[in-house]
Amino acid sequence: MANVTLHDKHFEPYVDEADVAKAIDTLAAKVAKDYSDKTPLFIGVLNGSYFFASELLKRLVIQCEISFVKVASYHGTVSSGTVSQLIGLNERIAGRHVVVLEDIVDTGNTIVHIMAALNEKQPATVAIAALLLKPEAYKKDIPINYVALEIPNVFVVGSGLDHDGLGRNLPGIFRLAQS
Ligand code: IMP
Ligand code: MG
Repeated sequence: MANVTLHDKHFEPYVDEADVAKAIDTLAAKVAKDYSDKTPLFIGVLNGSYFFASELLKRLVIQCEISFVKVASYHGTVSSGTVSQLIGLNERIAGRHVVVLEDIVDTGNTIVHIMAALNEKQPATVAIAALLLKPEAYKKDIPINYVALEIPNVFVVGSGLDHDGLGRNLPGIFRLAQS
């Protein structure tokens, strides 16, 4: 794999496509085992999760459904601070076993908002599956139940992740070049 330039930044190969696939294989096996009798509802968080959602679901031989949301944040009243809405969620959530699919969990702020919005709708259970987790950056209490790959605090693109809109289509994972 060669280096790539996206806008003003240079990226170098970090995790190749085959290793990303292997990590998703392992994660899929765990999810399949845990949800074999449940018909889970997967909820992908767009745009970044499109790749992970597709790669994960094609490996699952269990019955399941998939839907996608976008997270829109706006400033509510002073007391409520930033409020997040899940755009595009039309499925009935009450009583369902929900698995949120994220491209990457970094600080976890996004996950906190998503979980708050979902829990209002009273699902039976909610789990989180992420293609990537940055454990050094993540300081929230919410457990990230399924993680394909843990990475250090570096900025990465590829496999759904972008730098200002570009790079989502790159196979494998690229990291910001050191030089
Ligand atoms: P968090 O709310 O800090 O956990 O960040 C989550 C979101 O930030 C992800 O869904 C990504 O859109 C973006 N993000 C965080 N780290 C990276 C990265 O290394 N590359 C690309 N996007 C990232
Ligand atoms: Mg993004």
